[in-house]
Amino acid sequence: MVTTIDGELSGSTIESVSSAAQPVRVPASRYTDPDFAAAELEHVWPRVWQIACSIDHVSEPGDWFEYTVGPWSVLVVRGDDGVLRAFQNVCLHRGNELCRGTGRGLTELRCGYHRWAWTLRGELREVPSRRGFGVLRNDDYPLIEVRVDTWGPLVWINLDPDADELAIYLDEMPADAAWADLHQFRCSALVSTDLACNWKTLIDGFSETYHVQGIHREMLPMVDDVNSPQVIWTHVGKLEQPYGLPSPRLRDVDQQQVWEGFIEVMGGRIGIHDAAEAGPAPDAESGEAFRDHLAELIRDEYRRRHGVDLSRFDTRRLLDMSQYNVFPNVTILVFGDMLQIVKSRPGADVDHCIMDVMAFDRGVPDAARSDPVTLTVAKDDVDLGLVLNQDVGNIEGAQRGLHQPGFTHLSLSGEECRIINLHRNLERYIPAPARSGEQP
Ligand code: FES
Ligand SMILES: [Fe+2]
Repeated sequence: MVTTIDGELSGSTIESVSSAAQPVRVPASRYTDPDFAAAELEHVWPRVWQIACSIDHVSEPGDWFEYTVGPWSVLVVRGDDGVLRAFQNVCLHRGNELCRGTGRGLTELRCGYHRWAWTLRGELREVPSRRGFGVLRNDDYPLIEVRVDTWGPLVWINLDPDADELAIYLDEMPADAAWADLHQFRCSALVSTDLACNWKTLIDGFSETYHVQGIHREMLPMVDDVNSPQVIWTHVGKLEQPYGLPSPRLRDVDQQQVWEGFIEVMGGRIGIHDAAEAGPAPDAESGEAFRDHLAELIRDEYRRRHGVDLSRFDTRRLLDMSQYNVFPNVTILVFGDMLQIVKSRPGADVDHCIMDVMAFDRGVPDAARSDPVTLTVAKDDVDLGLVLNQDVGNIEGAQRGLHQPGFTHLSLSGEECRIINLHRNLERYIPAPARSGEQP
């Protein structure tokens, strides 16, 4: 028996998904069964577009970034001709990996084992003791290319040479987010952390905001977590969520609580980094007038800190978060002054993943590219701010529970339609026979 997510989600909105007569059930084994993880490695990861790094990581000739997913490694390289390319990280002599990590100033791709060397364009140019190979033509040994493309400040790769173009894969998202001029953002940091949970358990936590009233209760005075429209395209789903006003789950919230909640959760956007320094709320403003005031404070702070004018972004663009989820593993959070990305990659086994958090600042037009801080940090040492720390603090328990005998299915609501869409896409990519062991 093969489980299939009922109904056609594409083009639907949260309202139509919410009207489902019963919960959508997803087999828990998709999060715990090594065979399902193997099916993902066979059918999903070699065929999907994935964010490898930011453009800032590979902005100049000789820059490189090694992106790994499961057992595979891809080198993203900026050639001496300025062209961005990606190659499988393998030497064509005996299969040694060519290069690790990320850096600047590469002039060739030289294998350390027997020193075969390629140009940054992937052309073989040197083979020590070449005569021993008989006739060996450089043209017969180009590095194996990987599809690479960019959107906004992001470099995407796809291991499938026959995959659709990235612009098709991203559905309506580029048009929907065009207002934000995402290409102006510069990556300041890419922090990776190993976590003891399935990669889907992590990204599911960034595919719904139902859990705000669970693990982020500090947010309730400053976000409407209930009236937040969602839309599902094909690979991409989107949430739009208003900040700077209280959740309808709370009663009798006064303006001081909204103000203090905003500062506790994201006071840095208005230059107040310590919740104890919130002080009294701005005078007697409420509702949209208060949000207008917050938006003005955000513009002031951005001008002060970065010298960038955000006056073209109205209150909605500064205080309504656009959250995109791109199948399989990416969430992109956008405000006019903020871009943040969280993505998950499969880890050593079905119960581990790697979380990548990317932070960006909007640069002044034509500013020099940044040099992103790129590092791996142990889970106990990572500090991602109040809300992300709460997400990370919860996630390993969310994985442990999935193993309990008798727990066979997740039950999802319409509010969790972006998780439902993840599973709908998994079913598109993983053929039914590879899922035949699932409990109906
Ligand atoms: S394996 Fe790379 S040169 Fe031999
Ligand atoms: Fe969260």
